[in-house]
Amino acid sequence: MAQRETWATRTGFILAAVGSAVGLGNIWRFPFVVGEGGGSAFLFVYLLFIVLIGVPAILVEFVIGRRTKLNPVGALRELGGGLWKYLGYVFFVTAFVILSYYSVVAGWFVRYFLIGITDGYGVEDPEAAQALFGTVSVGLDSLAFHALFMAATIGIVALGIRRGIELAVKVMVPALVVLLVSLAVYAATLPGAGEAYAYYLSPDFGVIAENWQTLLPDAAGQAFFTLSLGMGVMIVYASYLGEDRNLAEDGAIIVSLDTAFAVLVGFVVFPIIFSAGADPEQETVGAIFFSLTEAFSGVTGGTVLGVLFFGTVAIAALSSAISLLEFVVAYFIDEFGLERRTAALVAGGSIFLLGVPVTQDLIFLDLLDGFADAILLVLGGLMLAVFVGWVAPDVARDELSRGIGELGSWGVAWIWAVRIPVVVVLAVALVLGVIGYVEFLTGDFAGWLGG
Ligand code: TRP
Repeated sequence: MAQRETWATRTGFILAAVGSAVGLGNIWRFPFVVGEGGGSAFLFVYLLFIVLIGVPAILVEFVIGRRTKLNPVGALRELGGGLWKYLGYVFFVTAFVILSYYSVVAGWFVRYFLIGITDGYGVEDPEAAQALFGTVSVGLDSLAFHALFMAATIGIVALGIRRGIELAVKVMVPALVVLLVSLAVYAATLPGAGEAYAYYLSPDFGVIAENWQTLLPDAAGQAFFTLSLGMGVMIVYASYLGEDRNLAEDGAIIVSLDTAFAVLVGFVVFPIIFSAGADPEQETVGAIFFSLTEAFSGVTGGTVLGVLFFGTVAIAALSSAISLLEFVVAYFIDEFGLERRTAALVAGGSIFLLGVPVTQDLIFLDLLDGFADAILLVLGGLMLAVFVGWVAPDVARDELSRGIGELGSWGVAWIWAVRIPVVVVLAVALVLGVIGYVEFLTGDFAGWLGG
């Protein structure tokens, strides 16, 4: 591309970034990590993390991208030189791993969409909802829908026809908000709503203090995943941004919208789970599916709602999958000089293969997701914070001020926030995340391997 394009409008940039951020991270991953983290305790740590770490961290990626107008590898090479460009390879691995299981989970949404069309969601009790999820999530069906979803992603990236999908997302994201708000209103009328809100919203600080060593890395992983941070994607988006944009304002809007979306999903899922007499901690990766099939089979017009919901999420996931594959394909083209179609096929094919074990046993979901979230994304975010805070702070502050004006003490505060607290918190989260992951490898996973 000779002349670098810039976003035509401000909303163009914000919508693209929100489109990347809103996806399975908000709808599928958020409710089950809240469940694993004990509800309100996790939510509290998570929200704190988003505000104190997520906002400075998104600005870190924005300034690098807009200053260099380059992809992550080129940007880090230009600003930092030498070894920094290898961080770009970490980003590449991250996108590769995330997409491998993202596609499997997205396939489940496609499958639920089709179930609604052919059979409806007539589950009489929680056991039936779990049994249905079992057949969808593990086995040949899961493999088939993973293949289908990956094939669609590869096809779109190979042909370079993402515009149409982006257009669809602009309609779908607002539609999803309407659907979720209606579902949250319905959920509020359920008998378990009161108990669910208490569980979700009133944190017990004793519990937080006791469990911070798991809450912090989990919150960090979820925050980076849901905001598409820690892998240079926001560097790419901001590289198309004009100098007149106020990065701080745009960052705050993007982070707030993504967070509001996730929190809203909690208002749907938990009242349904509590009303069904289930325990959110036991629901794990099926939480969104169990709760919604129960809800959809309980209300009139539920099937139509369900078809709309699962279909919309599938499209939102498709747009995220496209940008993840684009990211990987760009590396294949740059590094190996492959043609776009070949690159899409080779990259997409390998990613598909990496995801195949996930379709056969959910332990592989923990294996890949744990590695990507708790380790790779946090590592990427940490290195970028070190980069901006310690290697290129003056350039970063200057870049942030463009489109805002004189930053005064805010600029200094931001750099110092990135330099010490953000770096320290991320380093601690990373160490704890590695410890947790090693525990998983030597515990559950070793047990699984041993039969
Ligand atoms: N944020 C996306 C979600 O919540 C997932 C994601 C992470 C992503 N990194 C990305 C999407 C990069 C697109 C590009 O579902």
